[in-house]
Amino acid sequence: MKTLKIMFLWLLGAFILIQFIWIDVPNPPKAKPSDEIKAPAKIKKLLVTSCYDCHSNHTKWPWYSYVAPVSFEVRTHVKNGRNWLNFSIWNQYDEKKKQKLLKSIVKAIDWKMPPPDYMMIHKDARLTPSQRKEIKEWAKSQIKDEQEY
Ligand code: HEC
Repeated sequence: MKTLKIMFLWLLGAFILIQFIWIDVPNPPKAKPSDEIKAPAKIKKLLVTSCYDCHSNHTKWPWYSYVAPVSFEVRTHVKNGRNWLNFSIWNQYDEKKKQKLLKSIVKAIDWKMPPPDYMMIHKDARLTPSQRKEIKEWAKSQIKDEQEY
């Protein structure tokens, strides 16, 4: 019993200590409403519910995003996600970058995005195969010249 108690206290101590480690997510980049991506309402809705937590300035931070060690995972996701692709500043990207991102959306939407661990918690963000297809077709339709980039 005594060892268990000591182990528990160590764990508790470690848990409290890691709360002081904070992953800094820089403030979202400045954006005008017109910078936001434009897409047919149906597609936009899917992007908002399934992608915006990590790929926009409109992150909804759940309570556990403030509790380490989960906060490490969540905050790193948002930080990297926005770096890669931020739908809130879409129109600040030049055409070349947009085309590149559209192509990576076509690829990522098959299975990589939204990340599986995120969907485990966010059931509403799950996409059906046909919703994935809709996003894919939309992204494809925005790609201008297959050869050029
Ligand atoms: C939980 C956060 C999260 C959500 C939700 C999310 N992403 Fe991502 N996304 C990331 C992170 C983090 C990266 C950075 C690259 C990586 O980790 O693989 C990324 C990278 C990407 C990339 C670049 C991938 C590459 O390798 O070129 C695309 C495209 C992308 N996401 C599209 C989407 C789309 C579309 C959705 C919604 C259907 C979405 N993501 C939802 C976190 C997220």
